[in-house]
Amino acid sequence: MNAATYHKLTSYHRKNMSPHNLDWGHMPRLYKSYPPLFSTALQPAGELPDVSLMKAFGEKWADRASPAVLNFEGLSTILTLANGFTAKRSYGTQTHFYRSAPSAGALYPNEIYVATGPVDGLAPGIYNYQVKSVALVRLRKGWHLRQITETLTDGPERTPAVSLLISGIFFRSAWKYGQRAYRYVLLNAGHLIENLVLALNAYGYSYSVHYDFDDESMGGLLGIDEQREVCLACLNIFDDRASEPRQSVKPPVELAGLERGVIEASRISAAEVSYSAITQAYTAGKTVRNDTAESADPYPVVDNMPQNWFPVRKTAEPIVSLGYVKSVLKRRSRRNFLQYPLKAANTMRLLEMLCMASDRCVDEGQTYAGCMVPGFMAVNVEGFDSGFYLLVTKKKAYGLVSGGSLGQKTAHVCLDQQWLKNGAVHFLFMANLAEVDLHQGPRGYRYAMLNAGRAGQRVYLAATALGYGACGIGALYDDEASKMLSLNDQSALLYLVAVGTTK
Ligand SMILES: Cc1cc2nc3c(=O)[nH]c(=O)nc-3n(C[C@H](O)[C@H](O)[C@H](O)COP(=O)(O)O)c2cc1C
Repeated sequence: MNAATYHKLTSYHRKNMSPHNLDWGHMPRLYKSYPPLFSTALQPAGELPDVSLMKAFGEKWADRASPAVLNFEGLSTILTLANGFTAKRSYGTQTHFYRSAPSAGALYPNEIYVATGPVDGLAPGIYNYQVKSVALVRLRKGWHLRQITETLTDGPERTPAVSLLISGIFFRSAWKYGQRAYRYVLLNAGHLIENLVLALNAYGYSYSVHYDFDDESMGGLLGIDEQREVCLACLNIFDDRASEPRQSVKPPVELAGLERGVIEASRISAAEVSYSAITQAYTAGKTVRNDTAESADPYPVVDNMPQNWFPVRKTAEPIVSLGYVKSVLKRRSRRNFLQYPLKAANTMRLLEMLCMASDRCVDEGQTYAGCMVPGFMAVNVEGFDSGFYLLVTKKKAYGLVSGGSLGQKTAHVCLDQQWLKNGAVHFLFMANLAEVDLHQGPRGYRYAMLNAGRAGQRVYLAATALGYGACGIGALYDDEASKMLSLNDQSALLYLVAVGTTK
């Protein structure tokens, strides 16, 4: 099943919404539960990186040397910044924990695995990051980094010190969203990838980000049950010690088998439902097309492209109230928008942050940048005519597609989430799914959605740093959204993040 077909099949239609009958008795577990295995507590965070968000977004810093060696303390901090608990709320007798990355329905469908080589304080192995107990549970002993890099379609020359693998468990989201859940599993994975990337930038590690690999081999190494859980991304972290060329690396110490009961841990509810649309969309995208061309230039989502393009530039010093770490810790989904305009300089800063990319790493998100097209709807922004704009990140330019105030209409299209109408700017993440299918094949859907989630995470954090609120929106009537924006027939709005002043 290609991207366009899956997306269409899982569209919401105003007149044809099936009621959400949530089976509370079989709500999926938010944490993987393994049989008793060796586990080690993450180390308390050491010195947190005291850097601006711009630096974490990839702004060059001349005054910085990369840390020579990745130790367990550094790795622990990276993991907790990316996906640790940042808030706790009690509802009646129940306590909910919220994390540094947002998640549709707070169902947290993604897991992070860690494969380690020479990390001081941590024996080599493959581990699952247990968010709740703040620990790593070991699934395999020994050094498996070479096997991991060999599953990558375009693996690095150097052997990493650590590989971080992000998976998605379908039923965690499908319990609530049914066959539409593949969208959320991918978007959420994108949020996590970006959080990891920002932590690595903040510390100054060099790293690589991979969307393309042999899914089955990777899944086998992680001990996940492919019917339920799949690997979606790999990030390699390099340090000085692990920089030998690939050829000279010793063979793995010993490919010990998986510990018992590991694969069964992908089951997260006693009554799981398997959705054929998800299975088919995922299965179709398992193959990496070897004729895939780079798609750094965006595939057009509108027929009438803007006539004029304006540079994204700093107009005046924006009010940045928080650095990188505080932005991560304070980020929340905020919906209590007030009808205040966004300052022009701050809007420029938001656009600038979306356009930034680190040049110190190989990032397949950049390779496939054109699969996802960002834009924004200026609803209440000083110095901007209201309307729908496209943003070309590579050229750092934006252009008006169509004028008019669409705040109220957006709220209507987004399942009548009325609070949205007070958002000052709605960031829009779109894709020309037919072009994605044509050039990248069905796996292109992953590239588009992962990149949309990553951009969404940037908006959340940038808005937080600037003192605004933000909220991601996946719930929308898809056809109405395309019509509202006059997207061409091949294109769709994948995701929206609203930003505004909050109470
Ligand atoms: C992909 C995605 C889609 C979301 N869709 C909606 C939405 O349609 N409406 C909404 O109010 N919140 C939405 N959210 C926000 C989540 O409800 C929120 O992230 C979750 O409750 C956790 O809270 P936190 O973001 O404050 O940590 C979405 C978040 C993500 C990542």
